[in-house]
Amino acid sequence: MSPSPKERAQTERFAEIYQRSQLPVMKLVERSVCGCDYGGTSWTTREEADENAAQLGLGSGVRLLDLGSGSGWPALYWAQTTGCAVMLTDLPFDGLNLAARRAADDGLRESCYFAVASGAALPFPDGSFDAISHSDVLCCLPDKLEVLQACHGVLRQGARMVFSVISISPGLDETDYQRAVDSGPPFVEAEQDYPALLAQSGWVIDQRREVTDNFAATYSRLIDAEAGQVDALLELFGEAGLAERQVGQREKIRAISDGVLCREIFDVVRG
Ligand SMILES: C[S@@+](CC[C@H](N)C(=O)[O-])C[C@H]1O[C@@H](n2cnc3c(N)ncnc32)[C@H](O)[C@@H]1O
Repeated sequence: MSPSPKERAQTERFAEIYQRSQLPVMKLVERSVCGCDYGGTSWTTREEADENAAQLGLGSGVRLLDLGSGSGWPALYWAQTTGCAVMLTDLPFDGLNLAARRAADDGLRESCYFAVASGAALPFPDGSFDAISHSDVLCCLPDKLEVLQACHGVLRQGARMVFSVISISPGLDETDYQRAVDSGPPFVEAEQDYPALLAQSGWVIDQRREVTDNFAATYSRLIDAEAGQVDALLELFGEAGLAERQVGQREKIRAISDGVLCREIFDVVRG
């Protein structure tokens, strides 16, 4: 199926973000927010990445598939720190191209592979991988069930997938629901909740962790870090652009703090 105009616009927006993320000021901000400088766009911190690596059992000889890899966070970090082999996939070429360059710079050419591919149509034979990860990716795409089914197909029997996702808190009134839609990622709405989608696609939940407080703390660090770089950011975004960015950030932190948006990590096993 060809992507909708909204999906195409998002792919272009991510491509721009990945290019911009290489600028010194953005790297500086990212290091103080997430503890890394791969150009990450998820809310995965270094501490969370270390925990996820342990849950996935990453190490030498493990074949990991990372979906929606952007410019390489956290997949390249895991290749470096655990010695696993990683297939990075995403839609914007620009992000993967930056990831490939970073892999070469970090001496990871032999263990990292790259494919421009949708998570809903993975170009790999059944059972190709020992582990799968994705960081805040399902909230950035409409075909959530198809992606979970595709992941199920390419993972070997009994292996694990760990992923984080931002979603709309259950039981909101109409006004708060709309606030969550307006301040959340572009495809934050889901037709069914994640446990139902996982059950339908053959996954068994081993652990489900609420990490909304960490999400709020990480987001606050972003706002503080950007407040310390106003001159460089003004040059980058212009006065109106930066003001708009700051208004969006304030709306988002309010939505997270008020509990209309939540973030969870699922650790699931291929049934
Ligand atoms: C929040 S970003 C996460 C990027 C990176 N993994 C990180 O942690 O910084 C979500 C990513 O999902 C990707 N994405 C959106 N739709 C996708 C699809 N159908 N298949 C694969 N990736 C997709 C976007 O291009 C984007 O790079």
